[in-house]
Amino acid sequence: MRVYCAADYYHASRVAANIISAQVIMKPDCVLGLATGSTPIGTYEQLIRWYEKGDLDFSQVHSINLDEYRGLSPENGQSYRYFMNTHLFDKINIDKKNTFVPNGLEPDPEKACRDYEEVIHAHGGVDLQILGLGHNGHIGFNEPGSAFEKETHCVKLSETTRQANARFFASMEEVPTEAYTMGIKSIMQAKKIVVIVSGESKNEIVKKAFHGPITPEVPASVLQLHNDVILVGDEAALAGFVQ
Ligand code: F6R
Repeated sequence: MRVYCAADYYHASRVAANIISAQVIMKPDCVLGLATGSTPIGTYEQLIRWYEKGDLDFSQVHSINLDEYRGLSPENGQSYRYFMNTHLFDKINIDKKNTFVPNGLEPDPEKACRDYEEVIHAHGGVDLQILGLGHNGHIGFNEPGSAFEKETHCVKLSETTRQANARFFASMEEVPTEAYTMGIKSIMQAKKIVVIVSGESKNEIVKKAFHGPITPEVPASVLQLHNDVILVGDEAALAGFVQ
């Protein structure tokens, strides 16, 4: 694993955006695995700036997002499809037809997940997967205890994750209880993975995930077994973390 420690969030976002840019330049029709959450927003902003300068072309890029709340429509302001449109897709020249997010409105979880795995396989897998890291070590919506061998599946969200995400909803009751998420197995099949972490609140879990035992209790710890992982963070998140 390679580790890039940047001074602050802005610079960590630039490093992550640089890695994505390199991927897009080297393989213009690549498949990017994308994440939502607060952490990648700065990375997406940087990609938009470089696109606006004419330095990046997303016209042939395909993207496959990690997860979506079950029951939320793409128009719902809290859906991950809406997040991706507003934070990235609407601001670059990616063809929306080439952007994939699990279908939150598919009522049959098995069909929703099977369809999504088909999308991933039809695209030949993900070239570069972007990940954030949950405070409990989750990646995607794979909560502690998730089996490493799972592909896309429907999960019941833990109370801590619902509480962490409640800041985006008007009330706790509105926070969905389930989500469709790429599984650990699907994530691990990406050819390259970039994990972005920022802020002191992630410091403990970064150490646990990348220096602790590999265990389903810390889902991100499985990344220690991937042969091409880059950890990008700011000093607050990576303090005391030595490679
Ligand atoms: C987002 C996702 C989540 C987040 C994680 C960290 O698509 O799957 O695993 O990456 O919850 O979220 P932030 O970045 O808000 O701390």
